[in-house]
Amino acid sequence: MKGINFGIIGCGRVAIRHIEAIQLASNAKLIAVCDGDKARAEEKSLLGNVPFYVDYHEMFKQHPEIQVVIILTPSGSHYEHAVDIISRYQKHLVIEKPFVMTIAEGLTLKLLADKASVKIFPVYQNRCNKAVQFVKNAINQGELGAVRVGTVRVRWCRPQRYYNLSPWRGTWAMDGGAMTNQGIHYIDLLRYICGEITRVHAKLATLGAEIEVEDTGVAIVEFASGAVGVIEIMTSARPDDFEASISAVCENGLAVISGIATNILQTFSPNPAKCQLESENFKDAYGFGHNKVIEEVANSILYDKQFLVEFDDGLQTIKLLHAIYRSDELGTWVEVNEAKDSKRLGVPDEALLQLYRTSTKEHETAL
Ligand SMILES: NC(=O)c1ccc[n+]([C@@H]2O[C@H](COP(=O)([O-])OP(=O)(O)OC[C@H]3O[C@@H](n4cnc5c(N)ncnc54)[C@H](O)[C@@H]3O)[C@@H](O)[C@H]2O)c1
Repeated sequence: MKGINFGIIGCGRVAIRHIEAIQLASNAKLIAVCDGDKARAEEKSLLGNVPFYVDYHEMFKQHPEIQVVIILTPSGSHYEHAVDIISRYQKHLVIEKPFVMTIAEGLTLKLLADKASVKIFPVYQNRCNKAVQFVKNAINQGELGAVRVGTVRVRWCRPQRYYNLSPWRGTWAMDGGAMTNQGIHYIDLLRYICGEITRVHAKLATLGAEIEVEDTGVAIVEFASGAVGVIEIMTSARPDDFEASISAVCENGLAVISGIATNILQTFSPNPAKCQLESENFKDAYGFGHNKVIEEVANSILYDKQFLVEFDDGLQTIKLLHAIYRSDELGTWVEVNEAKDSKRLGVPDEALLQLYRTSTKEHETAL
């Protein structure tokens, strides 16, 4: 089978999952990796058995055969890096979560991508979990009946030393708090499994670390269907990660997916025998969903197939996220489809952005 050529920018913590996923896929090939930090780039190049670069312009010069770029840089840099790579090199992009920090960034990126005829693939890998797919199908096919209450709970532990790992962590401009960095997967699953959310009322707090963003948050939500729900997300649980779960109380029964990253089907009342069958063991919270993501990205390009998460679908989760922050800022219910950005999340900080910029001076002729 013809394979799609991938390059990676950003060789930090999550890069290994993408390298392994490309290695496992029959339709994908890793061509090169890049990180501004030479030691990290070198380490991941050894794992991937490919050349490394510290400057992505150089990587594209040496490897014009790269078709898809995976952006694994700090969240607040995704937009700048994406705009630069689309404008200069017209590559398809896989962008880690949150794929953009604001709704405004998402809308601009979409226009740019359409103009350049490239695709953008937002990463929400937990949608691929076996238990998630099973419950989603059970709801879609009517086995569980209408959802009445949908709940997500993320009770994780990220102590101060986690936020001290890099300057971008725990900042409004580059990261966002527990709702954005850790919670986004589960906020996304709530609307993926239980249906579209129309409005939210949220309260955020910073309780367990000295950071400017929230490490704790709760929200009540209303679904378009009339159902209601609860979001409880924190990185202030101590001393360990306890759970990331989602539950749907429905007309005909209860489904609960728990485990470290919604990987265990804990309860499926219409047929409890399904629980063992539809569960997976994860060695960490990243899970195995990236394998499917990479395979489907390659298929989408090879066969012009619809991707797992279409751009507008991915952006709807960003809209929901901003509605949660705005509700905390305003102290009121916020309609998700007002689609307004929070006054804190993703507001650019030039000094921080500068830390993660690749100089373009010597590459101006590429424009
Ligand atoms: N899907 C998931 O489950 C998941 C898990 C972890 C992280 N993430 C996301 O992945 C992204 C990266 O997270 P991480 O934990 O790997 O962060 P990290 O800080 O460990 O790695 C980021 C890397 O990007 C590099 N970088 C920054 N600017 C660069 C540039 N201009 N050129 C080349 N390299 C550059 C940095 O040197 C660093 O090594 C974040 O957006 C994060 O939210 C997703």
